[in-house]
Amino acid sequence: MPVDGCQPIPAHHDSASIGSRCLRPPGVSSPDPQPPTSGADPAAVLALPAGGSLRGRVRVPGDKSISHRALLFGAIAEGETVIDGLLPAEDPLSTAACLRAMGVGVSPIADGAVVRVQGVGLDGLQEPESILDCGNSGTTMRLMLGLLAGRAGRHFVLTGDDSLRRRPMRRVAVPLAAMGAEIHGRQDGNLAPLAVQGRPLSGATIRTPVASAQVKSAVLLAALTAYGPTTVIEPAHSRDHSERMLRAFGADLTVVGSAGTEVLVRPGSVLRGQPVTVPGDISSAAFWLVAGAITPGAELTIENVGLNPSRTGILEVLQAMGARIAVLNQRDVAGEPVGDLQVSHGPLQAFTIGGDLIPRLVDEIPVLAVAACHAEGTSRIADAGELRVKETDRLAVMARQLQAMGARIEEHADGLTIPGSQSLHGADLDSETDHRVAMSLAVASVVARGDSRLGRAEAAAVSYPGFWDDLARLRA
Ligand code: S3P
Repeated sequence: MPVDGCQPIPAHHDSASIGSRCLRPPGVSSPDPQPPTSGADPAAVLALPAGGSLRGRVRVPGDKSISHRALLFGAIAEGETVIDGLLPAEDPLSTAACLRAMGVGVSPIADGAVVRVQGVGLDGLQEPESILDCGNSGTTMRLMLGLLAGRAGRHFVLTGDDSLRRRPMRRVAVPLAAMGAEIHGRQDGNLAPLAVQGRPLSGATIRTPVASAQVKSAVLLAALTAYGPTTVIEPAHSRDHSERMLRAFGADLTVVGSAGTEVLVRPGSVLRGQPVTVPGDISSAAFWLVAGAITPGAELTIENVGLNPSRTGILEVLQAMGARIAVLNQRDVAGEPVGDLQVSHGPLQAFTIGGDLIPRLVDEIPVLAVAACHAEGTSRIADAGELRVKETDRLAVMARQLQAMGARIEEHADGLTIPGSQSLHGADLDSETDHRVAMSLAVASVVARGDSRLGRAEAAAVSYPGFWDDLARLRA
């Protein structure tokens, strides 16, 4: 559905067919179709009836990570970047609004629209007249820090919503400071609002403290205009969309060794605007994969899903659980592997996950927690402390919300232990403002005993504005 089609959710709404939330920071003007200014009623509740099955075909919206990168790299390229399939959701809209505030031409973003970015070149970003608002988007803020740190003589202030202003930014600020960046903020530069005084940067060897594609990508962006080469070394391989796309735009970037954890950038190359085709987001497909696997009688086909190996941990875990999933029509689209996924209901076995697998499914852990409740045996998630600093503390929030449905879940510092074969009951639930929590709870509600109601369901619009429409349509 178009992003301008969002409506407030009436309290006690009795169907699952609502649109996106309508939150835009005050003072941020955008040529994107404007939602009504009244916004969604924060006290609104969405009815989630239990029962029935799920059948049909669904095309999930464009990959969020790739969408941000297409906008950002297009902005600092020479010439035009034409993006097909860009995710028309709140997070990429935040990136586009920040870029426009710095003089980048970005055509309106709406469902189905091809988006054109008029690049200003590597050092062409203008000092914005006002604060850059990154909304709910950690990717926007962290990649923007890397992009802006080296813009000598210009000053930038970045902020975000209540959630983003609580998320750690020192993990980006410290590596960038090692290259000469000057970034100030609350808690010694850890929390937004953050002020960036652009400075000439020097290339460096950076060992990132966490396996985070956001941290890695911030350093790679800073490296493009630093003096001398930069090497970034991660503790484990995180998603590599930046590496793939920067190389396609003409950056001198080499992945050193076979593990993918060391990336070398030599500055000096001009980026050239490119056509970019954004595949469907496997993190959005994950809700349908789990819904299809746990709902009796379900049969779903999810079309055009990005299958980059740095993102397919969810498929490996579901397949190891015995889920009936087939990958069809595999192909390469603009440097990213893509395929269609077919899933049908069947028995599931418990899983144990941790270690280097976690960065490859970090956003899918909330919905995997739902799958675990319906598997045979006890599932264990370890080494997932990163979930505590996502849009919400996803370990605590998923434990709390699934417990409200009667689930037995043990929460640990870095994970969850979830006994299987649980029969959850309908309940009054709350997304706690987190998009992936909202959609994970919706999946749990379909197979619950009795109906549920979900508070702050509008959060889904951060990454999947049409989710509630798709859910209503797929219900058999
Ligand atoms: C993202 C990386 C991940 C992921 C986020 C998007 C990206 O975060 O959770 O939703 O686009 O680079 P981290 O890299 O911090 O783990």
